[in-house]
Amino acid sequence: MKKGTTVYLYELAWILPSIAIPVGMLAALTVTAFGAGIHLPSVAGRIDSRKVAETAPFDKPGVVQVAPDRYEVYLTGQIWTFTPSEVRVPAGSTVTFVATSRDVVHGLIVPGANVNTMLLPGQVARVTVRFDRPGEYPMICHEYCGIAHHTMSGKIIVEPRS
Ligand code: CUA
Repeated sequence: MKKGTTVYLYELAWILPSIAIPVGMLAALTVTAFGAGIHLPSVAGRIDSRKVAETAPFDKPGVVQVAPDRYEVYLTGQIWTFTPSEVRVPAGSTVTFVATSRDVVHGLIVPGANVNTMLLPGQVARVTVRFDRPGEYPMICHEYCGIAHHTMSGKIIVEPRS
């Protein structure tokens, strides 16, 4: 093999992966965003973090049915509980969590469902998820929020359709 050909092959060995890797990453991003529905939770607004209890919808935390098979959960996190701490919806429901914190930084993650957001004082988080499988799903705070952080949890009960 001529010397020039070897150099050319080395160049090719670098150039091809440097094209293939970004193309592969872009494909993975597209598949997860549109196929698996993975996305960043949106910021649904700002509120005065000192007046959460007086500000709608957090003055009445709980589960509200907004349409057939659609629910909204107005949720607050505070040391070291969620309000409401228990959410009940029928299987097949689409549930939108509208959530904020009453004090420090908390988190909300629901293993087994596509819910993973931070609860920041003064900021409203909005996450929509569909619950098809009946069962019990934990709501867990996954941002360290003080001495009893590990006890901060709640549950979502997805009831089977009768
Ligand atoms: Cu709230 Cu950790």
